[in-house]
Amino acid sequence: MSSKRSHEDLAKANRDSIIHPATSIVQLMDQGPRIMSEGKGIHLTDSHGNTVMDAIAGLWCVNIGYGSEELADTMADAARTMGYYHTFTACSNEPQIELAEKLVQMAPGKLNKVFFGSSGSDANDTIVKIVWHYNNLKGREQKKKIIARHNAYHGTNISAASLTGLPGFHKMFDLPIQNIIHTENPHYYAYAEPGETEEQFSARRAQQLEELILKEGPDTIAAFIAEPIMGAGGVVPPAKGYFEAVQKILKKYDILMIADEVICGYGRTGYNFGSELYNIKPDLMASAKGLTSGYFPMSAAYLTDEIWETLRYGSETLGGFSHGYTYSGHPIGCAVGLKNLEIMDRLNLVQNAGEVGAYLHNRLNAAFGNHPHVGEIRGHGMLAAVQMVVDRDPKKFFNPAKKIPARVADACYKAGVIVRPLPSIGAIALSPPLIMTKEQVDEMVDMIQQGMNEVLSNLSADDKE
Ligand SMILES: Cc1ncc(COP(=O)(O)O)c(C=O)c1O
Repeated sequence: MSSKRSHEDLAKANRDSIIHPATSIVQLMDQGPRIMSEGKGIHLTDSHGNTVMDAIAGLWCVNIGYGSEELADTMADAARTMGYYHTFTACSNEPQIELAEKLVQMAPGKLNKVFFGSSGSDANDTIVKIVWHYNNLKGREQKKKIIARHNAYHGTNISAASLTGLPGFHKMFDLPIQNIIHTENPHYYAYAEPGETEEQFSARRAQQLEELILKEGPDTIAAFIAEPIMGAGGVVPPAKGYFEAVQKILKKYDILMIADEVICGYGRTGYNFGSELYNIKPDLMASAKGLTSGYFPMSAAYLTDEIWETLRYGSETLGGFSHGYTYSGHPIGCAVGLKNLEIMDRLNLVQNAGEVGAYLHNRLNAAFGNHPHVGEIRGHGMLAAVQMVVDRDPKKFFNPAKKIPARVADACYKAGVIVRPLPSIGAIALSPPLIMTKEQVDEMVDMIQQGMNEVLSNLSADDKE
């Protein structure tokens, strides 16, 4: 739907009235919003009429691509059929039941129960509350702390922002809250000691985790949360052996494993869930984004039968499970989720993410493997980051104040492709729609090369400080 209003008129109205997420208000007032008007497949058109390829699938979520008529029809049908009914006090609806059946059948390991919400943040908040409730019901009132990792991203409500390990999300917000603490992350390229192998690095990270657990007291630690591949914090896959080493420690101290699959879930890595790729055995799991390809705000928090049994016991003693949202199990969202997963199955998108994702990584390595300002190309499947550096050897990262990732993202946009700047680590991220073909990957990498070279071939001496 194109607006009849001019870009200038819309931009002014926007500046006058909207606070944007994760946006500098000063920058918004200065440069104005980027207004998107239409999307089809892997392309978007902005309010100036520029059509660009979206290499990040919105915010890591539009798995089936933009403008699906089939999903639009499903949404309209569900709206006409009922539109809304709540799921409090044992009320349900058919799309919710069918989606839940499908999800528990897809879920990794022992995850057999699902709770619906509307965002990745609320899925993580639900999980934090379930973990606390579970340990209270088991009489372990002290066992409440949750360990997350520096640079992780888990969302922005009070508990999810606390789990997030990026300083900007804590500073001046009085966060993190009590009972949420952080350990080091498994980014080998950034943090390995000289001469250390990936396995040795992972062993060191596991040892640091164990030291933290012992310092805090194992009886106070309830859970550990990790994204299989860290997303917004840098697209960081674990170093070799990391999750094996970490899960051993968790088992030793009876600590629950929470997988945050909000980005990795529903096919992005070439597996239904990133937990399958890294042999993670979650006790609880958060998901959202790709569940509906972003067409409807939906999340699903998963838990095991064992945890559910304890909650059931809680209902016997306390009455209701006193948690939930007006939009939990929304019938339109659930119908959209079901149809989205059906489209993904029909088009073999998980397999496509594996195959085209491998091609994407080959192409990125060919294009940037020898680039003097590229230190690492990382990720898996349809999830990648290109790490930019001042120098490769000895390794020197760009000063975040120089805003190199944002400048590269702007230059890429002018070249015709949207990439996501990752300011905390100095990289750009790619997470294209899972429908992308190899030919489109070629086109995408060419445009990224153009955008990156425009900035990296014209660096000033000051940029390299
Ligand atoms: C790994 C991860 N967890 C949680 C979230 C929060 O999801 P939402 O923005 O839907 O609250 C995000 C969002 O990007 C994410 O990447």
